[in-house]
Amino acid sequence: MKSLAAESFMSDPRIGQARQLILDSLADAQKSLIGVKPADPERKQTYEQAIKEMCQLRGGGLFYPYLGSGLGNGALVELADGSVKYDLISGIGVHWMGHSHPDMVKASFDAALQDTIMQGNLQQNTDSFELIDRFVKLAQKNGSKLEHCYLSTSGAMANENALKIALQKNHPRQRVLAFSRCFAGRTLAVSQITDNAAYRQGLPSVIDVDYVPFFNPDQPEKSIEHSVKVLKRLIERYPDQHAVMCMELIQGEGGYYSGDRDFFIALIDVLKENNIAVMFDEIQTFGRTTQPFAFQHFSLDEYADIVTVGKMSQVCATIYVDNYKPKPGLISQTFTGGTGAIWAANAILKELNEGHIFGDDGKIVQVHNAFVSEFEKINEKHPDLISGPFGIGGMIAFTPFGGDGAKVKEFITTLFNEGVIGFPCGTSPRRVRFLPPIGSITEDDIKKSCEIIEAILLKIA
Ligand SMILES: Cc1ncc(COP(=O)(O)O)c(C=O)c1O
Repeated sequence: MKSLAAESFMSDPRIGQARQLILDSLADAQKSLIGVKPADPERKQTYEQAIKEMCQLRGGGLFYPYLGSGLGNGALVELADGSVKYDLISGIGVHWMGHSHPDMVKASFDAALQDTIMQGNLQQNTDSFELIDRFVKLAQKNGSKLEHCYLSTSGAMANENALKIALQKNHPRQRVLAFSRCFAGRTLAVSQITDNAAYRQGLPSVIDVDYVPFFNPDQPEKSIEHSVKVLKRLIERYPDQHAVMCMELIQGEGGYYSGDRDFFIALIDVLKENNIAVMFDEIQTFGRTTQPFAFQHFSLDEYADIVTVGKMSQVCATIYVDNYKPKPGLISQTFTGGTGAIWAANAILKELNEGHIFGDDGKIVQVHNAFVSEFEKINEKHPDLISGPFGIGGMIAFTPFGGDGAKVKEFITTLFNEGVIGFPCGTSPRRVRFLPPIGSITEDDIKKSCEIIEAILLKIA
């Protein structure tokens, strides 16, 4: 077969040389980013001014004054004020490979040579097809019946698509079930599911949502009994009105609390008996447990009707079984992803397939154990300074100062200033969460960032 013009172009030796030159230059530049550095005093004023103007332009403040310079080295990131920090939140789970990872730079370089910047429903390249295929194969790995995949540009949009698919299939049912304290995004529809009144203040109610209490690990049996009772009561109160239950298997924004297989099975049995779709929202959990998907971690493969992924996958997706295939016209988007994001997503999914990431001794469990061991050492030295649960897999958390919101905020702000980036979750107690860059973080990074965490905990206490 004759080569396509595109194939000849991409295999031109000059392209290979240019790519290698860039990667060599990157490696040299990264040599100056090897540890935490304070801000450059000479940049302080212009940096603060830029932050101020940015807040003014976007019409609201920033959680912390973060403006990246555009270069990093794994878990380390350089900010535009010249400081270098450990990024343990990675854009709330997005930069799974860390900052300026050579594989991501290579993917972006190759993507920049493609004919279009964006891809969409009407015109997609073979790289989009490759990505959909990777998502479906990964989802089917342990026997789920998930068969179709639709790409989108945000987690909220992936959830919107999931909701529409479920509502259309189960029409005229219009109610939705979800867990208390869940987070599903912030569009008009999914902000109704997100269990936080502040995020939908002043918005009209467009969907009726009923909440089921999440798992309580302190009283597992009682918790299962109680949640099943609530679910059954809701179904009795609104017979044949629920189309779908949207389940976060590990609560993210809600506080990094994990569910349990028996708990989920008990609820899913009731949902299946009542023909209610089972939807797993894996926007935050994808790529963070002992399996690619958390539903695989909890062995719930056979029950998945619709699954959504986002964040670390760069391109978001709604994956569903054949029975839930939407009618033409229900789902479509001008953009389903930028070409750079699609190439990066393919490289990341390849790493999930080929790297030693999952399983009981994979990178995720190693990173989790390394953090927990440092947290336990802090606890031994200073009893009651922090408490668990410490999260699950690559979703790591602790509760400092008994979960006092004001102190947690002060802790996270001081931690940022001293070179470690974390983020809060949960409400009462307020907790500190980390979504470290699994693809690049090292044992040394974990040790050094935990030394800073310990020092700031003591300072605030
Ligand atoms: C569980 C869950 N669902 C949905 C979303 C919404 O994703 P996005 O912010 O990309 O719209 C998030 C984001 O934090 C999430 O954690």
